[in-house]
Amino acid sequence: MAVNGTGNGAMAVNGTGNGTTGPSKTVLVTGGAGYIGSHAVLQLLAAGFRAVVVDSLGNSSELAVRRVAALAGEHARNLSFHKVDIRDKDGLEKVFSSTRFDAVIHFAGLKAVGESVQKPLLYYDHNIVGTINLLEVMAAHGCKKLVFSSSAAVYGSPKNSPCTEEFPLTPHNPYGRTKLIAEEICRDIYRSDPEWRIILLRYFNPVGAHPSGYLGEDPRGTPNNLMPFVQQVAVGRRPSVTIFGNNYATKDGTGVRDYIHVVDLAEGHVAALRKLFDNSSNIGCEAYNLGTGKGTSVLEIVNEFEKASGKKIPLVIGQRRPGDAEILFSVARKAERELNWKAKYGITEMCRDQWNWASKNPYGYESPDSPKQNGSNSH
Ligand code: NAD
Ligand code: UD1
Repeated sequence: MAVNGTGNGAMAVNGTGNGTTGPSKTVLVTGGAGYIGSHAVLQLLAAGFRAVVVDSLGNSSELAVRRVAALAGEHARNLSFHKVDIRDKDGLEKVFSSTRFDAVIHFAGLKAVGESVQKPLLYYDHNIVGTINLLEVMAAHGCKKLVFSSSAAVYGSPKNSPCTEEFPLTPHNPYGRTKLIAEEICRDIYRSDPEWRIILLRYFNPVGAHPSGYLGEDPRGTPNNLMPFVQQVAVGRRPSVTIFGNNYATKDGTGVRDYIHVVDLAEGHVAALRKLFDNSSNIGCEAYNLGTGKGTSVLEIVNEFEKASGKKIPLVIGQRRPGDAEILFSVARKAERELNWKAKYGITEMCRDQWNWASKNPYGYESPDSPKQNGSNSH
């Protein structure tokens, strides 16, 4: 495999495979160096798509793209990367001028709820201005097929679960509002021009890692979410996990969520793309929950992680986190019915793969002893 710098932050990652038939569809993946995006790009390549990643690397490492290339084997010839911020419309325009895209998967954005409360304008800038730029450039180039990363955050804290796509959309924080506003923009675009085909995917709680242990979540700074925190305790980077409240009306008093393996989530994007390209179906602009439909408490998932890792995770009982839902899990039957997608993995596989990633890369992609999958062919 060769990695060619082509100037202007563009990198072509070329494999040495000898397949002669090229992929039929080319997909732009914004945020494709990130946690979910990198897993999705690998699945797209394996499914025979060509993937062009655009990422600012603001919350990710180029090494993730290189590892995707290494894992993709001969499919790596169908992967390329451009370091572009989607708020830079000229930068996006250049990418669209050089390649004709059949569809876009839009992951790029900021996702830390607490930070969005402190810095709302930053969140509106990345998640809304960036999305508008992207949609404008797509429209200008006649690319009208989109899969958008939405979030269960659009539901806020529903009074009951399981949560269907018809539940009220009442996000509790600026992050969730950026997701809802972007969804509304998509619905308006479709109403104005029915040639658009848009799938909004509302993810529940993505966890786990690629089973190889070469791709995973590598948050900058202190993790906001539970499992990255647990993982850092397991590798000795932090002393304990604080449980945000143990007096909820749940099975053991701790919060209940719908954890979903990131590989299942990645497959959901391939399923969504297939739907977009299926001309026999009338798509419009539709939202789908991507979850397992199962609720798991904080204590249950931490126990499962202890089993997977063989490590004791010290726990401290703390206050409830403001804005937290008591119980939030999905009904994902609409995705099963219409996208032909269903999550395959449970919390055992999620914890096993999360630990495999964490133990091989205790400091994420920059770990000194992490596997030599950084663009070399040593795997
Ligand atoms: P991530 O931070 O790992 O990935 C996001 C990627 O987007 C990063 O690589 C980052 O560098 C890039 N990015 C951010 N702003 C950008 C910009 N202006 N221009 C170009 N690139 C930019 O996060 P993730 O967990 O992979 O999330 C992907 C998407 O899914 C996000 O839109 C997020 O809001 C959404 N989502 C995530 C979760 C979750 O728990 N991880 C849940 C629901 C929804
Ligand atoms: C959080 C976001 C949500 C976002 C989702 C996925 C908040 C309020 N909500 O949801 O908008 O869509 O991430 O990115 O931040 N917990 C602990 N200790 C910790 C961390 C978490 O006990 O250190 C508990 C939480 O109270 C919750 C569960 O673990 O019950 C999961 O928390 P987390 O991983 O942060 O996800 P969500 O709260 O579901």
